[in-house]
Amino acid sequence: MSLSKFIIKTPKLKNLFNFAVLKTFKSNRDLKSHWDKTYDRAEIENLGWYEESPEPSASLIKKCNLKKNAVILNVGVGASTLIEELLSQGYENIIANDISSSAIQKLKTRMDKQQSDKVSWIIDDLTKPIDLMKLKKIDLWHDRAVLHFFSTESEQDKYFDLLKTIVKSGGFVIIAAFNLNGAKKCSGLPVFRYNKEMIQGKLGNTFELIESFDYTYTMPSEDTREYIYTLFKRIN
Ligand SMILES: C[S@@+](CC[C@H](N)C(=O)[O-])C[C@H]1O[C@@H](n2cnc3c(N)ncnc32)[C@H](O)[C@@H]1O
Repeated sequence: MSLSKFIIKTPKLKNLFNFAVLKTFKSNRDLKSHWDKTYDRAEIENLGWYEESPEPSASLIKKCNLKKNAVILNVGVGASTLIEELLSQGYENIIANDISSSAIQKLKTRMDKQQSDKVSWIIDDLTKPIDLMKLKKIDLWHDRAVLHFFSTESEQDKYFDLLKTIVKSGGFVIIAAFNLNGAKKCSGLPVFRYNKEMIQGKLGNTFELIESFDYTYTMPSEDTREYIYTLFKRIN
């Protein structure tokens, strides 16, 4: 998309409007570039959110009792081992999203081609979704360590609007975010922390809480991070 088509040339409106447009474009670019650099610079196994085995997510996914052809969307997938875990369990309709093409490239490289060809890959911003908005009837939305990066109400609203548009009735939502005792920053970015009531509040009463637990994750550096894991079912 060309930036020039959004630039207003009328002197009176010019400064205010152009500032807002440029700021939005700049922050989008900065965010993508932040995550690209993060994945370009580090070994996946040294990232502060790397899980050798995505056990807490897998335990909640088991509770959903999904068919093997269920549509599973992993948002902000990064280079998570959950994709390989789901493929090894025989799931056939996995969609993996991230804002960072570097993250997705690293994950694809770790997987063999035959495996990565079984996954649909979507590079898109959860707070300004374009291709993600075209999805329908998602059976499971899975997010670990992504929602908490959306620190403004408007970003959070975009995220939950997308979720509510594409998760089907009877579908499941797993959200794992830093809890209220969690760190205030991750990957150098400020973090908005949650408890289960706050996530329920954002989802609204058409989502029923099935299970939640606090979880202490041990980073590759041996430092720890406090998460809240939640599993919801959409009841209409
Ligand atoms: C802390 S990492 C977690 C990665 C993965 N979920 C995991 O558990 O290993 C956060 C991920 O969210 C992605 N991300 C951040 N903002 C995003 C956005 N607006 N849209 C899509 N992905 C985003 C980042 O690129 C990064 O891969």
